[in-house]
Amino acid sequence: MRPPGERCVQEFCGGAPGCGKGDDVMERPSAKPGEIIVGLDIGSTTVRAVVGEIGSDGVDITGVGESRSRGMRKGVVVNIESTQQSIREAVDKASMMAGVQIATVFSGIAGSHLRGVNSHGIVSIANHECSREDVDRVLDQARRISMPLDRTVIHVLPQDFVIDQQDGVREPVGMSGVRIEARVHLVTAAVSSVQNVTKCIERCNLHVTELVLTPLASAEAVLTDDEKEIGVALVDIGGGATDVVIYSEGSLRHTAVLPIGGENLTNDIAAGLRTPASEAERIKVRYGCAMRSMVDPEETLEVPGVGGRPSRTLSRDYLASIAEPRMEELFQCIAQALHGSGMIDRLNAGVVLCGGGSLLEGSVELAEQVLQVPVRRGVPTGVGGMVEMVRSPAMATAVGLVKYGAARPARIATPSTAGTYQGPVKASATTDGRAQAAGDAHWWGRFRGWLGEVF
Ligand SMILES: Nc1ncnc2c1ncn2[C@@H]1O[C@H](COP(=O)(O)OP(=O)(O)OP(=O)(O)O)[C@@H](O)[C@H]1O
Ligand SMILES: [Mg+2]
Repeated sequence: MRPPGERCVQEFCGGAPGCGKGDDVMERPSAKPGEIIVGLDIGSTTVRAVVGEIGSDGVDITGVGESRSRGMRKGVVVNIESTQQSIREAVDKASMMAGVQIATVFSGIAGSHLRGVNSHGIVSIANHECSREDVDRVLDQARRISMPLDRTVIHVLPQDFVIDQQDGVREPVGMSGVRIEARVHLVTAAVSSVQNVTKCIERCNLHVTELVLTPLASAEAVLTDDEKEIGVALVDIGGGATDVVIYSEGSLRHTAVLPIGGENLTNDIAAGLRTPASEAERIKVRYGCAMRSMVDPEETLEVPGVGGRPSRTLSRDYLASIAEPRMEELFQCIAQALHGSGMIDRLNAGVVLCGGGSLLEGSVELAEQVLQVPVRRGVPTGVGGMVEMVRSPAMATAVGLVKYGAARPARIATPSTAGTYQGPVKASATTDGRAQAAGDAHWWGRFRGWLGEVF
């Protein structure tokens, strides 16, 4: 029996690897050629829908739709109606481009309400040869942690198994033994946040096939298996939040969410340059640089004034002098999160940055300087079709959701007969939620100033 109020992980994860749903726990069967998979990334600044079609040798991207996110704040829904409209807009665009009707989606879930925790379970093996049922039982036990009633488990991610004295087992089915232990990484979410995101998607007549922790999806798009094996941290710098996940020995080991992102830098630039936020955003994207040393001190830019005041000419160096300390603080917070995980020594493959915030010039160089590990910028790989449309760190989550979904059997859309969009299909519904485990709060103080702007 589950504790009262605790909701079944299966309701939310839709069968995440190892959740115990369905008859396949360890292996994610591939979708069939011709199947359509849609990833929906409901970000704080942008909603992205990506359509992928399963081909004979992988996933082909066939449609991409984007809309400005109105109604999300730091990964969680703050306005149902506006979020619904943004989702509808992005999904409609993707539908039209791909020429398919979209009925269901793999949606991301994020936000600082999410927590990641390592857990384990032990059960006896029924017939001295481990079966899928034994694996299901041990995973089910591993997910039974004590939780407040307003939280739910959204992912049960197996790390490894121990059969009798043999540890490091990755595929336990068929192995002989009397006792199996599972080590897992659990991701839990606030039920209300899950319900709100789900509501927005369902109101668009879309069915949520599965909710996926956004950095888990991003990792699917930009990390290599080798990196996951030898140890790597993925840092997704979004508009409202920065997600951090750590992989080692092929499995997710740690998750953290820092409630700061590119919007904070935009606000700093708006204040520092005394210009409207929309101009600050444009200036940041066009001229911003995280390292002063990389900027030509002679280079200048035009800064529009506020309230009808005349525009001014400022040096790009001055802009970098605002950006550098802010980005440095962000990377120091990330460093603290990495140290707090206790896994910093295992990051043999260093850090991979993604998310729109990682596009800031000089961010890789500054990250290397602060984190003291090799850093690269990650773009989605391993897909075909319209690759140019998704070749950006900002597309990591949406493409990752498609790749994640492609590894599972799920028909979510049907090619429209005339090759044109025919409107949404009425569908059933499910759930959703978002991001993850912050844990150590000592970085919080550093950002009181920033957070003051947004809370
Ligand atoms: N070229 C660029 N240089 C600097 N910053 C950029 C650039 N392009 C985008 N950004 C920033 O990236 C942020 C948006 O990133 P992204 O689209 O990954 O966020 P999101 O997914 O909508 O938000 P979140 O993940 O926090 O919910 C914005 O703050 C934007 O200003
Ligand atoms: Mg994002």
